[in-house]
Amino acid sequence: MRFPENFVQEVLDRTDIEELIGRYVTLKRTGSNLVGLCPFHSEKTPSFTVTPSKNMFFCFGCHAGGTAITFVQKAENLDFADAVAFLADRAGLPLPREMGEGGRESGVSRKRVLEANLEAAKFFRACLFDPEIGRAGMDYFKGTRGLTEATIKHFGLGFAPNTFGSLTDYLHKKGFTDEELQVAFLCGKSQKTGRAYDYFRNRVIFPIIDTSGNIVAFGGRVLDDSKPKYLNTSDTPAFKKSNHLFALNYARHCCAERMILCEGYMDVIALHAAGFEFAVATLGTAITPNHARIFSKYTKKVVISYDSDEAGQNAANKAMRVLGDVGMEVRVLRMDGAKDPDEYIRKFGADRFRRLLDESRTGFEYKLENILAKHDLSVGQEKIRASSELCEAVAAYPSPVEREVYLSEAAKRLELPAEVLRNNVDRIRRKQQSEFRAKQSREAQATVKNFGDRINPESAKDPKAAAAEENVIGLLLMFEEYRREVAAGRIELAAEDFVTAFHRRVFEAIMRQQAGEDGFRFAMLGEEFTPDEMGRIRKMEVARRELTENGPSVFRSTVETLRNIRNENRAKEGDLQSRLEYLRKSKLHKGKEQSE
Ligand code: UTP
Ligand code: MN
Repeated sequence: MRFPENFVQEVLDRTDIEELIGRYVTLKRTGSNLVGLCPFHSEKTPSFTVTPSKNMFFCFGCHAGGTAITFVQKAENLDFADAVAFLADRAGLPLPREMGEGGRESGVSRKRVLEANLEAAKFFRACLFDPEIGRAGMDYFKGTRGLTEATIKHFGLGFAPNTFGSLTDYLHKKGFTDEELQVAFLCGKSQKTGRAYDYFRNRVIFPIIDTSGNIVAFGGRVLDDSKPKYLNTSDTPAFKKSNHLFALNYARHCCAERMILCEGYMDVIALHAAGFEFAVATLGTAITPNHARIFSKYTKKVVISYDSDEAGQNAANKAMRVLGDVGMEVRVLRMDGAKDPDEYIRKFGADRFRRLLDESRTGFEYKLENILAKHDLSVGQEKIRASSELCEAVAAYPSPVEREVYLSEAAKRLELPAEVLRNNVDRIRRKQQSEFRAKQSREAQATVKNFGDRINPESAKDPKAAAAEENVIGLLLMFEEYRREVAAGRIELAAEDFVTAFHRRVFEAIMRQQAGEDGFRFAMLGEEFTPDEMGRIRKMEVARRELTENGPSVFRSTVETLRNIRNENRAKEGDLQSRLEYLRKSKLHKGKEQSE
């Protein structure tokens, strides 16, 4: 069966590729990638790479590559649709087919869910502001949490009374069915009767609003220490946790310079109230690569301000990596004397927080402090260990300027001559580089071995054209901008410009998707290309990514190169044609003579 494109996307969003592949391959982290021994060919040095920030994998040895779907296709020997179903099952997503056959989510549209949410938000707010019904909630917000009425209104906070039917009854009167309310996650479903009942009870309510102003979900917190502390809307046709950040609807207006990422709703609300309106939080989940991509749409720099306990600091470490992977400048704020930003501001005030924010440490400084805290530098052996960990950390930075700055900082703190550390860092980098070169030469050998190219047999006939085509496709895969330029005809490039049939097919598929409603999605190529072909397509992108120059002028000139090669070929073909014509004529001429 064919799955709708957004279902495939949802399956991918819900699949942690690192965790998935980690079940088949032992992976080790190196920078923003994970590497391991390739499960698809035999090797002794790892050339199999997983890139969580792109949700892709690639093997530099055998050129297997693609999405989590491609991986499952190869590892479990399934076709595209079965691999999607396999992953959907793992992620607990019902297949669209089952939904259609009277399953829970049949027929309820996103629009309907949003309408129900809007009515529910009005209801929760009216309850909170009712002096009798909402007293407990209002006391909690104003008394316990110290919020002003203006802040409460700004965030549209509410209160769900301690009843099983008041919201349900209200929404029934507004014309919503049990099914709609259950799908919207506003109501639970009674085991016995199947009837709807209020899901949020005796909780203060935080509406989640998307950047278009839709109320997409709710979080509800208990008023005391009972458990669970929060109830949240699960995924609905209008909401997917990993696609949203709390308060982004406000933060997006003042976040060009930087954003603050916190853990809790209350942290964000306290920060906004104190004037830091560029704070957001994930919705009760760890930050995912998808969140990181959202950040990169709005800002360049993220200051992580998680809880100061150990769990919070571990989460900060992970967030640092996830955000760093999409090229974000990341800083980590360290608080003393308070468990979270909410408490800090209430204890020490907004000015002290602003100072912390301005002093927030770069990723390296943060690592530095962590490494130093782990080791007792007065013990020789420990100091050596700390120094080698720090050198590894410094060597990971591609920019020589950054390396030099961090190196001297590390030297100062370790009380060692910078020279000693520099030698160490250089050695580590040389080792990394020689590993990289070895990888490349393995790759080159593999290419030679594969001379009889199964995937693109025509590449041997015209290697120059095939190489130019690979460059063009690699760039098209990398940047939407280029796909748009070509689709709009601002850059002239057509299927006929491609010499090899395989590349022509790839180009056509990319441009067909680009023209479609949902735009280009790499994963959807899996519908028409085999896993091996997917690997080859992925390779074209990986190869371009390793180059630093991929700007618009490079794209234009690659397209031009391709066109020149094609024209040359045409000219040659032209020559041949006329030659053949000549031969044919003379033969015919001879034939005539003979028959006469
Ligand atoms: P916290 O426990 O730090 O909550 O969880 P908080 O928002 O700071 O609340 P206070 O300050 O203790 O009152 C951080 C976030 O994790 C999610 C919520 O999104 C919360 O804001 N969470 C926490 C849940 O989804 N469920 C829970 O049971 C607890
Ligand atoms: Mn908290």
